[in-house]
This record gives sequence, C-alpha cells and structure tokens, in this order.
Amino acid sequence: MAELIDGTVIAQAIQDELGPRIQRIAGTGIPAGLAVVLVGENPASISYVTAKERDCEKVGIRSFDLRHPASISETDLLALVDELNGNDEVDGILVQLPLPSHIESDRVLERIAPEKDVDGFHPLSLGRMLLGLPTLLPCTPQGVVEILQRSGNDPDGKHVVIIGRSNIVGKPLATLLTLKRPGGNATVTVCHSRTPDIAAVTRSADILVAAMGVPGFVTPEMVRPGVVVIDVGVNRVADDTRKSGYRLVGDVDPAVASVAAAMTPVPGGVGPLTRTMLLHNTVVAAERRRGIT
Ligand code: GUN
Repeated sequence: MAELIDGTVIAQAIQDELGPRIQRIAGTGIPAGLAVVLVGENPASISYVTAKERDCEKVGIRSFDLRHPASISETDLLALVDELNGNDEVDGILVQLPLPSHIESDRVLERIAPEKDVDGFHPLSLGRMLLGLPTLLPCTPQGVVEILQRSGNDPDGKHVVIIGRSNIVGKPLATLLTLKRPGGNATVTVCHSRTPDIAAVTRSADILVAAMGVPGFVTPEMVRPGVVVIDVGVNRVADDTRKSGYRLVGDVDPAVASVAAAMTPVPGGVGPLTRTMLLHNTVVAAERRRGIT
C-alpha cells in the first residue's frame, strides 16, 4: 500500500517557519495584510475564502474581507482593486475565481499591482516565473513542489506527467518543474482532454500529478507500480450521509494506493499546501514592500 503523504503536517512545518518572519514584519509597525475579494455566493468559493481568512488569523496576518454581490459591475470591481493597490495596509490581494460571467477575469487579474499579486496569476508574475526570475508564484503549483521536496520525492531527473493544462495548475506547474533550480530539473509531459491514449503516457510517469477536475479519473491500470501520485483534484460529490450533503473527492481513484509508492489524500493533501503558499506569498510581498528581505 502507498505511503499517504500528509499535507497537513507539511503545511504546518511551513507555517512554523513563517512565524518569525510574520513577527518581524509586524515589528515595522504595520502587520502583513491580505485582502480577500469574493464576488457572489458560489458555495465552494465561500468556503475557500473563509478558510483563507481563518488561516491568516491563525498565523498573525491581518485579513480584509471584501464580499460583494454577483451584480457588482466590472467597473466597480476594478475600482476596488485600484483602491487596494493604493492601500498601504494591504500587502496581498486575492480575487477569488470564478467571477460572474459579465466580468472579464483577465482584466481584473491584470489590474492587481504585481507586487501584491499573491495568487501569482498576473501576466507579469507568470512571465517572470517562466524566466526563473524572482516573483510571486501561483500557490497550488508551488505547493505541489513543496510536497514533493519535503516528502523525499525530489522531481530532479524524474519524469513527471501532469494531467490538466489549466492556467492555475497544469501550465504553471509544468514550468516550475522544468526550471533549472531546486524543485525543478524534471522532464515534464502535460496531458489533457485531446491527448490520445492518456493511460500509455501516465504509465510512463515516475511522478503523476492529476489536476483536471474529474472525480476518480486516475485508476490503478493507469499507473505503474512505485509511482508517486499527487492529487490536486477537489471535487464535491453528493453524499446524503454527510450533514453538508456532499463530500470532497480527488481526481484519483483511492484504489490507486494499492499500486503507488506514495500518494496524497483528498482532503488533507495538496489543499493545505495551496492555502499555506498563499500565506507564504503574503509574507514575501510584505517583506519586499518593507525592504526587509
Ligand atoms: N479558485 C480556485 N482556486 C483558486 C485560487 O487558487 N485562487 C483564486 N483567486 N481563486 C481560485
């Protein structure tokens, strides 16, 4: 049976490392601050945003909760971003996605000042990442790299197969893993919905990352014995036995654990790392803005 990689333990270790840095930032007079913008009432988004604000409180980062109805105009949302860009108490700005369809997400993400772009979604942040220059990195890809390194599964020299080519996970993760630096140096294949015979590709992986948002997509036949599997999927499936009426499942069939050497669970795998890398990015942004790096 696969070793289960506990994301909660790794996330806590990173948060412990951030503690002294958060105190040092607070010592400058203004504590590190994260503005969290939520538009509308998507239940998953509400729970993500609530969790992110709770994480901030736990580690001593100030959070600013900015919730607006789905009817907010793009103009008003852009004005809010402008105001946060100019607010000295705000080190990081996160606009929770998805946004309602009448708002152009790209326009909003591009409006965030790059030095406050703690999600790492701004074109400038992504371009700097591609070049290996210092920048704020997207949280989930950065979290996957941390999980691999801290669980003794360094991607250096390994064949990593990623299923999914999203702007948030697949594409930036492929870039990070290919960089010539610690946490990189992997040989990376990206599969997606137009890849013929995905199983033939996934069976060649030393490390398999599932990030396409299809519950239980990766089955035991799709992996070779000894593979390390990172499950980025967070899917809500109906479950009448739960008070909430749903449970969270990943993109990987739990039966894969009988073949893999190591695997991340859902929940409790990548999720805690994604949230922790947001705290990490807020700390980095706060240090840079105060000139204390
Ligand atoms: N929606 C789903 N994942 C994310 C994320 O990492 N950041 C933001 N802003 N929205 C999301």
